[in-house]
Amino acid sequence: MIARNAWRIRALLPVTALLWPSMCLASDPAYAAYLATECVTCHKMNGKPTNAIPSIAALSEGEFVGAMRAYQTGQRPNEVMRTVAARLTPENLAQLATYFANMQGKAIPR
Ligand code: HEC
Repeated sequence: MIARNAWRIRALLPVTALLWPSMCLASDPAYAAYLATECVTCHKMNGKPTNAIPSIAALSEGEFVGAMRAYQTGQRPNEVMRTVAARLTPENLAQLATYFANMQGKAIPR
């Protein structure tokens, strides 16, 4: 699953780099959805876990931020998620926490 989606992540990186300065100033649901596009290449939008990748749709905001902080501090050792989490600011985490906490029942099938 990770290998099959790797091209999507690579394709997204230049776009992220280009848009980053202006996007950082925004704090709206569209921006949260934009941040989440990277996540849902692995964590399915339909909320269903895959073999190695847990569902993150509808985690409470506290659970979400707790898990992401644990990756940022290295308390949780998963390399992929440590890299992903390292790039997110506390504001990004708060936006994503709200976004995913509101996902249940609104998930878009992929
Ligand atoms: C390349 C694939 C990949 C991408 C991209 C990715 N994740 Fe993950 N994520 C994983 C894997 C694999 C795990 C399980 C890691 C572990 O065992 O700790 C995980 C775990 C998590 C967890 C912990 C879930 C739990 O129930 O404990 C959270 C929260 C999370 N990811 C959020 C995110 C967010 C937010 C993004 C986007 C900014 C993201 N992930 C992007 C693969 C990915």
